[in-house]
Amino acid sequence: MEKTSRRTGPGVRLALLLPAGVAMLAGLDAALTLLGLPAPVPSDRLADVHGPLMVLGFVGTLVALERAVALAPGGTDERARPWAWAAPGLLGLGGLLLVAPAPLVAARACLVVGAAVLVALYGAAWRRRADAAIAVQGLGALGAVGAAVLWAADVPVPYLAPWLVAFLVLTVVGERLELMRIVPVAPLAERGIVGGACALVGGAALALVWPGVGTAVLGAALVGIVALLARFDVARRTVRGTGLPRYMAVAMLASFAWLAVAGGLWLVAGPTTSGARYDALLHAVFLGFVMSMVMAHAPVILPAVLRRPLPYRPAMYAPLALLHVTLALRVVGDARDAAVVVQVGGVGNVVAVLAFVVVAVTSVLLGAPARPGRDQRAEPPAAAPPSPTAANRLEVVA
Ligand code: HEM
Repeated sequence: MEKTSRRTGPGVRLALLLPAGVAMLAGLDAALTLLGLPAPVPSDRLADVHGPLMVLGFVGTLVALERAVALAPGGTDERARPWAWAAPGLLGLGGLLLVAPAPLVAARACLVVGAAVLVALYGAAWRRRADAAIAVQGLGALGAVGAAVLWAADVPVPYLAPWLVAFLVLTVVGERLELMRIVPVAPLAERGIVGGACALVGGAALALVWPGVGTAVLGAALVGIVALLARFDVARRTVRGTGLPRYMAVAMLASFAWLAVAGGLWLVAGPTTSGARYDALLHAVFLGFVMSMVMAHAPVILPAVLRRPLPYRPAMYAPLALLHVTLALRVVGDARDAAVVVQVGGVGNVVAVLAFVVVAVTSVLLGAPARPGRDQRAEPPAAAPPSPTAANRLEVVA
């Protein structure tokens, strides 16, 4: 194990992580342009690709890297699959090509193939351990393929946005389902979440041909999934703890609320492809749910990926709170048609994401507190973890 680990050391993983960082910075730059504000690098091209760049190039690369770590040489699986690295590699390259003045077709091709390899990774994980959590994440990866293929076929982003939503929501929800396993999972929770996942992907497909019905299905699926998470997720228990478990639980419970907002908007207001409601709905999902989850899980996922501890520090609450408060401001601005309020909220969102990166990097450099208390300490997981990153999450909640 040690020998193979050295073959795929942190250098390779860091090289695969860097394009995600570039995609994030370029996506934030583009966000300022989209808000109608001056950006460090003003670029119409970046503004045009902001959505796919953020979802597939930034978060997609992180997701694929996390999954590849378990299956590639040096991972937890005894059968090494060197091709596993192609998923984060191609999604990251696709993001870099979107940022560079390269032909759009090359970037789109990388994203399609990278997303397809991600589906294959979940296929390999399923053969190793067939369970509902992998199935839900695999359905999410199919959402990424759907989005990438539709974008390559020149379908405008507002019409393929439900596929982007399905990708990231189901990735996160599948991972939460893995964690519910530390206590016996009610069959209702597991079956309900699998049903919700099928409905979300089905709704994304339906919305292409029958927007009214498809959007209602999408909204109902999100509301149903969030109701199950709110009822069964371990965050409800761990929020009563201290330190890292409590921080993660706070971030997760807040993210559930944003997912409910997005589902409610789709359910009540119908097809949403432009304007203030589009901005509010998409960012309720991508900032309120997804980025809050990224902030929650970074202290347990990054160490498993990079093999460098990212110790929890109470300072992590500051960017988390800023994200949620400024997102609320932005959504109120959207509801009131108040452009300046949307801009102030949007800039706050950008600052929150950057501030989290600063806090995380500082925490890595400072290292663990001299005498780690219960807040940081890991305990033996309650069940065989499906991946190193899942193992870390189990340790936090056990
Ligand atoms: C951090 C601060 C962010 C700001 C200020 C921001 C801002 C914006 C703005 C102003 C729009 C245009 C909305 C409209 O057409 O009405 C937009 C679109 C979009 N954003 Fe963001 N965004 C941010 C982060 C993100 C993140 C993290 C993601 C995904 C992970 C994301 C995904 C999208 C998508 C999918 C679209 C639709 C693009 C399109 O229709 O072409 N955004 N964003």
